[in-house]
Amino acid sequence: MSSAQENITVEVLRYRPEQDDKPWLQSFDIPYSYEMSILDALHYIKDNCDSSLSYRWSCRMAICGSCGYMVNKVPKLGCKTFLRDYIKSNGGSGKIRVEALANFPIERDLVAKIDDFVEKLETIKPYIIRETEEKLADGAYQQTPEEMARYKQFSMCINCGLCYAACPQYGLNNEFMGPAALALLQRYNRDSRDQGKGERLPILNSEEGVWGCTFVGYCSQVCPKGVDPAAAINQGKVESSTDYVLNLAGMSKAKQYKSAKQEKQADCGKGDCGCGGKS
Ligand code: SF4
Ligand code: FES
Repeated sequence: MSSAQENITVEVLRYRPEQDDKPWLQSFDIPYSYEMSILDALHYIKDNCDSSLSYRWSCRMAICGSCGYMVNKVPKLGCKTFLRDYIKSNGGSGKIRVEALANFPIERDLVAKIDDFVEKLETIKPYIIRETEEKLADGAYQQTPEEMARYKQFSMCINCGLCYAACPQYGLNNEFMGPAALALLQRYNRDSRDQGKGERLPILNSEEGVWGCTFVGYCSQVCPKGVDPAAAINQGKVESSTDYVLNLAGMSKAKQYKSAKQEKQADCGKGDCGCGGKS
């Protein structure tokens, strides 16, 4: 379906650190069509109005997670958000403002500096950890559909960062691990092949972990892939509380991991562990 061409006004936040003291809004009147996404509108502006506009994008199909922007103050994927939902004849406000993702510093125009987000994803040890290696030939790493279903939803994240832009806690304190990193942590903790829960529990248990979340839930509302990071954080709170009780009984997984690590370090100090002082 397409409509007769008409113009629409798109305001875009500009910030070029070499020449701008602070971010400012630039307004563009561009031809509107029913099929145009926010990303298409930015492409039109760059190709026809101002080639200096900077913004991230890649796949155009809600897979790469690059095109996160604030659209009328709501975190959205530019390629999955359409101008038609904002025009007056469709019940919208008739105004579209596109800004860089909230809660991150602006690198340039619509490009947010997301280094902190990427570091947090790395911090939670996002890989299968094994205490013992088993032979693949013995089927050691096979999973049933039920075992896969335990973590699949949390593995659908495309690292777009929309949930960080939505999270008031991360906005107040960027030490908080945040929604996507905690959902990724659960993705591995709930995987039947993984044995690294004890290593991740200290992160989960900390104030910057699940206890930094006040369960606003907006992260799950804006997530374009249905990951539901708020549910992952709630599961994490249950696991953290369970670990606290186990700790009282001297059975904490986090504590066991810590003692094993300390033992290894002590052996290392004696030169007994054979790591050459690297562990
Ligand atoms: S959890 Fe959802 S909103 Fe957050 S980074 Fe992943 S895909 Fe994006
Ligand atoms: S361009 Fe890849 S998610 Fe939008």
